[in-house]
Amino acid sequence: MIAIDGPSGAGKGTLARTVAERLGYTHVDTGAMYRAVAWKALEEGVPLDNDGLVANLASRARYQQQADGTITIDGHDVTKAIRTPEMDKAAASVARLPKVRAVLVGQQQDMGKDGAVVMEGRDIGTVVFPKADLKLYIDASAEERARRRAADPTHTASNMTNVQYDMAARDKSDSTRQVGALSKADDAVYIDTTSMPIEQVVHHVLMLITDKLE
Ligand code: C5P
Repeated sequence: MIAIDGPSGAGKGTLARTVAERLGYTHVDTGAMYRAVAWKALEEGVPLDNDGLVANLASRARYQQQADGTITIDGHDVTKAIRTPEMDKAAASVARLPKVRAVLVGQQQDMGKDGAVVMEGRDIGTVVFPKADLKLYIDASAEERARRRAADPTHTASNMTNVQYDMAARDKSDSTRQVGALSKADDAVYIDTTSMPIEQVVHHVLMLITDKLE
């Protein structure tokens, strides 16, 4: 189990996907799970602040992440629909709810139980898999993270000012919530990717993995 945490736009997604591909591991994007649950709640008219109802919906939903990156929930392909500024906010709302987190953390522990998994999120090394073989905390400056998010072709975004403003609000929500708050595990390796091209980050991480797993 390789646990990758950090704020949005730091480069976790590309890193996790590439490392999983190279190792032949399964890639699990836990942020997409919070997004898919928020999408489903909006679709069913469930209030995004109702912990019991959203948790119930999350425990009943069939969530799938395919190798090509397609995300489905109860058979609906939501790959594109969950990557909009509105869904950034909706996902961060449901992620504040303790019962919802308990349901999704349980599902994530199940998905990772065979070990050959690269899992990315906010609380993987601290809560979901505190005994992961390797923990990484991927960071970058706020300006660089906003720039990457604005340039991300898989994500609808408005102008840079809005991206930066929304990201700051989400960072605050993610780091100050009562459960599963974004924080670096004491034993996680901290990598600042602000001025590192992704290939260099991948290379560095593959070296760390070789050292750790051999
Ligand atoms: O990583 P991504 O930006 O897609 O995550 C969407 C939202 O889901 C985040 O803002 C965060 O609030 C939440 N999240 C979480 N715990 C995780 C992964 C994501 O709370 N493990």
